[in-house]
Amino acid sequence: MKIVVIGGTGLIGSKLVKKLGEQGHEAVAASPNTGVNTLTGEGLAEVLVGAQVVVDVSNSPSFERTAVLKFFETSTGNLLAAEADAGVGHHVAVSIVGTERMPDNGYFAAKIAQEQLIEKSGIPFSLVHSTQFFEFDRGIADDATVDGKVHMAHVLFQPIAGDDVAEAVRRTALGSPLNGRVEIAGPEQFWMDEFFQQALTAWGDPREVVTDPHARYFGSELTERSLVPIGDASLGTIGYRDWLGRSATGK
Ligand SMILES: NC(=O)c1ccc[n+]([C@@H]2O[C@H](COP(=O)([O-])OP(=O)(O)OC[C@H]3O[C@@H](n4cnc5c(N)ncnc54)[C@H](OP(=O)(O)O)[C@@H]3O)[C@@H](O)[C@H]2O)c1
Repeated sequence: MKIVVIGGTGLIGSKLVKKLGEQGHEAVAASPNTGVNTLTGEGLAEVLVGAQVVVDVSNSPSFERTAVLKFFETSTGNLLAAEADAGVGHHVAVSIVGTERMPDNGYFAAKIAQEQLIEKSGIPFSLVHSTQFFEFDRGIADDATVDGKVHMAHVLFQPIAGDDVAEAVRRTALGSPLNGRVEIAGPEQFWMDEFFQQALTAWGDPREVVTDPHARYFGSELTERSLVPIGDASLGTIGYRDWLGRSATGK
């Protein structure tokens, strides 16, 4: 089966292309680095010829509120129009657990806009809502750093390894369209302030974690369950400590 992976050179996309290729599928990585740009439309019609499934795991180069909204609205609009022309039968996209609970967050608002375009496109679709990737942990700590201290709220946090995300997306892409969503999360639930205390120690990072009920997650205050699945979720198998060990040894 031909499966085009938009953002197939990125963190999740490159893992997914590898997995699908190992199973004998024609998995095509599509991104500016391979001559396909969903913002300008360059290479889009050509790459979609004969594609049955499109997975969108692209990301905006800028997380600034206006820029990220423009990225997801424009790229998703162009992509869905090209998929309709090409007769693609299944559109899969990765979004974030809790987007609808934090519409004041600029990045989450852009992901909601992306999801709405997909839902009303008429193309059969599946949305994979994931919690935060382990690979994003340092970015979260850096964004939460104020005057050298990492400010974290005492809220629930259930991050997931990129490999587990890619596996869930692979399963979803090869299945029938859900015309709805599946939620995925890591196998362990933590308190976010305690998770980062332990993570910083494990990284050998001297920054102190301050538990702060008003700590902001990329601009938004969190409630206890803002970032974790509320209903049923499919859980990954890779724990954070194992992942840290694997990352350190490059496995
Ligand atoms: N980070 C998290 O914790 C988290 C949690 C839940 C969901 N998500 C979602 O997961 C998805 C994948 O994230 P990721 O971390 O794997 O992304 P990533 O590593 O930053 O990769 C982004 C990809 O997007 C491509 N791209 C950028 N501009 C493009 C354009 N104009 N046209 C086509 N492709 C373009 C890049 O291509 P080049 O290599 O050619 O530049 C790259 O392949 C995102 O949609 C994100 O919202 C992330």
